[in-house]
Amino acid sequence: MTDVALGRSGLRVPPLLVGCWAWGDAKYWGYERAQAGGLVDALEVACDGGLDAFDTAEVYGDGASEKILGFLSARRATPVRVATKFGLLPGRTARTLPLALRASLKRLGRARIELYQVHWPDQRMASIPSLMDALADAVADGLVQAVGVSNFSADELRRAHDALARRGIALASNQVRYGLLDRSPERDGVLAACRELDVALLAYSPLAQGALSGRYDSATRPADRRATEPWFSPTALDAARPLVAALQRLGEARGVGASEIALAWAMRPGVVPIVGCREGAHAAAAVRALSVTLSDDERDQLSRLA
Ligand SMILES: NC(=O)c1ccc[n+]([C@@H]2O[C@H](COP(=O)([O-])OP(=O)(O)OC[C@H]3O[C@@H](n4cnc5c(N)ncnc54)[C@H](OP(=O)(O)O)[C@@H]3O)[C@@H](O)[C@H]2O)c1
Repeated sequence: MTDVALGRSGLRVPPLLVGCWAWGDAKYWGYERAQAGGLVDALEVACDGGLDAFDTAEVYGDGASEKILGFLSARRATPVRVATKFGLLPGRTARTLPLALRASLKRLGRARIELYQVHWPDQRMASIPSLMDALADAVADGLVQAVGVSNFSADELRRAHDALARRGIALASNQVRYGLLDRSPERDGVLAACRELDVALLAYSPLAQGALSGRYDSATRPADRRATEPWFSPTALDAARPLVAALQRLGEARGVGASEIALAWAMRPGVVPIVGCREGAHAAAAVRALSVTLSDDERDQLSRLA
């Protein structure tokens, strides 16, 4: 497996990142301590299969995700690559970013991380240039290798890119929701702006939080807060059945599941999906997805069905 470049930032990562939102997050994902073994397996299986880059955020489980990732990854002989995020929480401004970054590093047990991202824009709390200046300072201080944004529109992305360029730094990535069941980056200009500016698109929720995995249908819905998301409504799950069946069919022909095919659809030049893994089996499938190649016809067939 060959690492891919995140734009011109100099940071290289595997073609698929492992997402840690569910790690320690009771409020949304219903995490309980009994599930900790699944997280151990997920990290070990992912790293052994070459997927050694993990995406987390200070808000995931109110810091628990960063702590768990830091604790589990410290047991490995070689360091993992870590991306985390600064949230514009109440009371936050660009001036509070260095403090938040140091708190994240402490929870992660690291002196430096590979990617630091602004989780979402909120110009009432912090202007984009002021946030980019704070990120550039973090690079200058040697605390982060590269910087990115998340949930930025095409226009916000351009402004972030230009502000960082004035400091001589290449914006690595914009992390937005993108997968077969949410293709808005293709329509709202975000994918085009990423390509034009040579910024990687980190695609979150590429499995529609599991709605594409084949595990759920209108009779079997998640027991956690995901059930309130539009793609887990009984109507949406019924409507997605032909797509899930097509993913399963393409998977069967290759000896893999629907998830591997949905991930292979999302992986492409300039796009790095982030898949949420909280069991060894999730990570094993993510590793298998790296070997799946879809023909143009198969990609088109899935895009049409979606
Ligand atoms: N920047 C942002 O605002 C933002 C927002 C959302 C997510 N993210 C990032 O993106 C990551 C991924 O997004 P996500 O977790 O929302 O969605 P996702 O990756 O589309 O879905 C994750 C869920 O899919 C299921 N799954 C994964 N692999 C599977 C497999 N091989 N077979 C069957 N089911 C499988 C699991 O559900 P079960 O547990 O039910 O099996 C898993 O919890 C997050 O962890 C986070 O790092 C960022």
